[in-house]
Amino acid sequence: MTLRYSRISGWGKYVPEKILTNTDLEKIVDTNDEWIVQRTGIKERRIAAENESCSTLAIKAAEQALEVAGLRADDLDLIIVSTSSPDYLVPIVSSTIQHKMGATCPAFTLVTGCTGFVYGLATAHQFIATGTYNHILVIGVELISRFLDWTDRNTCVLFGDGAGAVVLSPSSTPTGIKAFDLGSDGEKGRELILPGIGSASKIDYATLDRGEHYLRMNGREIFKFATRILPKSTMQVLENAGMTLDDIDLLIPHQANARIIDLSIRRLGIPSEKVYINVHKYGNTSAASIPLALVEALEEGKIKEGDHLCLVSFGAGLTWASAIVQWGQPLGEEEAAIDESLIWDLTSIRKKVALTSTKVRVKARTIAEETAYKASTLLLPLYTFGGGKSAKRSKNSKTK
Ligand code: UT7
Repeated sequence: MTLRYSRISGWGKYVPEKILTNTDLEKIVDTNDEWIVQRTGIKERRIAAENESCSTLAIKAAEQALEVAGLRADDLDLIIVSTSSPDYLVPIVSSTIQHKMGATCPAFTLVTGCTGFVYGLATAHQFIATGTYNHILVIGVELISRFLDWTDRNTCVLFGDGAGAVVLSPSSTPTGIKAFDLGSDGEKGRELILPGIGSASKIDYATLDRGEHYLRMNGREIFKFATRILPKSTMQVLENAGMTLDDIDLLIPHQANARIIDLSIRRLGIPSEKVYINVHKYGNTSAASIPLALVEALEEGKIKEGDHLCLVSFGAGLTWASAIVQWGQPLGEEEAAIDESLIWDLTSIRKKVALTSTKVRVKARTIAEETAYKASTLLLPLYTFGGGKSAKRSKNSKTK
């Protein structure tokens, strides 16, 4: 049972300055603008500078999200970073981000490919719903260009770098995350793989020569999966929310390919005006794609107070993740204070129950001891009398 709602109270995005157009790509790999636009809808993508990393992109988006939420880094109770392109395998990038932002809360990294942000939202929602934490930063970030083989036209034209972030905060009124649908099917996992970085194989010159440190993909298989799972997960999350397609004001799908989105919404029967697309500007930014689209839809005034959004993602694993989010603007400070006071806090309830039962046990023991004491004082004269008797007896016995 959900005792608290979690609403998006802050949001932010960051994309690197460098734009790589399809025409630029024509100069480095055997491709052309016409093919890329027709098959994917992508016109350009952003590529991180050499001095940027996953953590630097993430922090820029996160700082904006905190500012919108009116919070400081040390107000955060948890940071969840969704990415498949961290600064290093170790240390975990979420801790780097937490430290560099000046936050003192726990932080962890969630790796589910392109579905990472929605998996992160669903995870953050649990902590808020149960009253464990109040303010949680969820970041979707990817610096995937470092893992692309710029001679492989099957992959390098598709992806781009970027970051998006939201702050989730509690609410006593029904808003925010209403339902989600998470899924995983590893059977076809190897159809989208970065084979050479991980414990399954040792990195050596041979693996580097074979380009195993680059992302490899069977595009057709992923395409089939995507166009099947996108409508299916949309319907499932609606069912979980007790809603229908008509209740959705804006569908924000994972921005991998405009054709995947087009085919899926035709299968669903959703009009294109109700679907947000920005894949033409950024390509596939994996875990950053949904938060980037969400923030841009907000910036373009496409989301109004009370709107129901459906976020749908699919990707490596293979995985899928969808969420229904009702939009609600951040509350003012005064309202937020009232909001907080109205919130059922499970943790404090548990603490209060534990405290009360301890108090009852202490009281019961006290009453028992007091009764015993009173009884003993009532019996005292008898005891004294008895004592006297025995004293007499012993005296008598002595005299005897
Ligand atoms: O976030 C999730 C991760 N990934 C995805 O969502 C990707 C899902 N898949 C797709 O979006 C599409 O399958 C692609 C965009 C990757 C490919 O589109 P397609 O319509 O499935 O093309 P295809 O792989 O069937 O290739 C068709 C032709 C091939 O040539 P032949 O064999 O017909 O002569 C390819 O070699 O297009 C060729 N081709 C290209 N030509 C120019 C493949 N890539 C390119 C390219 N430029 N970049």
